[in-house]
Amino acid sequence: AGADVLRADLDGRRVVVSAGGTREPLDPVRYLGNRSSGKQGWALARVAAARGAEVTLVAANVDQPAPFGVRVVPVGTAEELRTAMLAEAPDADVVVMTAAVADFRPESVATTKLKKDSASEPDSVPLVRNPDVLAELVTKRPSGQLVVGFAAETGDADADVLAHARAKLARKGCDLLVVNDVSGGGVFGRPDNAAVVLAADGTATEVPHGTKDAVAAAVWQAVLPRLG
Ligand code: CTP
Ligand code: CA
Repeated sequence: AGADVLRADLDGRRVVVSAGGTREPLDPVRYLGNRSSGKQGWALARVAAARGAEVTLVAANVDQPAPFGVRVVPVGTAEELRTAMLAEAPDADVVVMTAAVADFRPESVATTKLKKDSASEPDSVPLVRNPDVLAELVTKRPSGQLVVGFAAETGDADADVLAHARAKLARKGCDLLVVNDVSGGGVFGRPDNAAVVLAADGTATEVPHGTKDAVAAAVWQAVLPRLG
């Protein structure tokens, strides 16, 4: 933070960022959610606006005021996020998906509150898959648009973080994938929340610090040379 006010290297660029975590309703008072705060997407939007971009933030349950100069489109569910992103993305030069999109949602939503000791008391919750918004944005993108995904990965018995991330980058078809190593150290030589920007062209750029602002600046540095 700080130095970005001196730059205007994103001047006139149109940027759409998704942030936060979707909530999938179960009944009028309950939902399935996740712990995403939206701070990373918020930082990306703030930094892009400070560097001259025209920024729209599609915010899924983000409990923060709009960053200065950023237009915010609030959404709740994955389906709402998809609709908003498909509406906003066609005019964008860069689309960044930081939102934690629920992979599943309850198959049906009760119109009235589920009550204990009643016919409506559930003993399990059937789930269905949500659409993959990032993959859809990639297939529908106008030529020249850059699409950036985010992924939190851990190494496991099958593969290390980087191998999982490269496979995900290929599967999604995006241009850049920002990878947070959440396995608690080792793989990239950093114990704390290391991030790596993987590009479809094969390059991997380590982000020197784990803060959200540092990651945001690193993402825009990786985006800049790839813009037409
Ligand atoms: N994403 C999306 N729509 C979904 C799920 C994920 O657009 N239904 C996006 C996220 O915003 C993120 C990227 O895809 O930019 C990677 O998310 P991640 O959860 O790591 O990918 P998944 O394909 O869901 O893989 P996993 O099974 O590991 O969760
Ligand atoms: Ca997922």
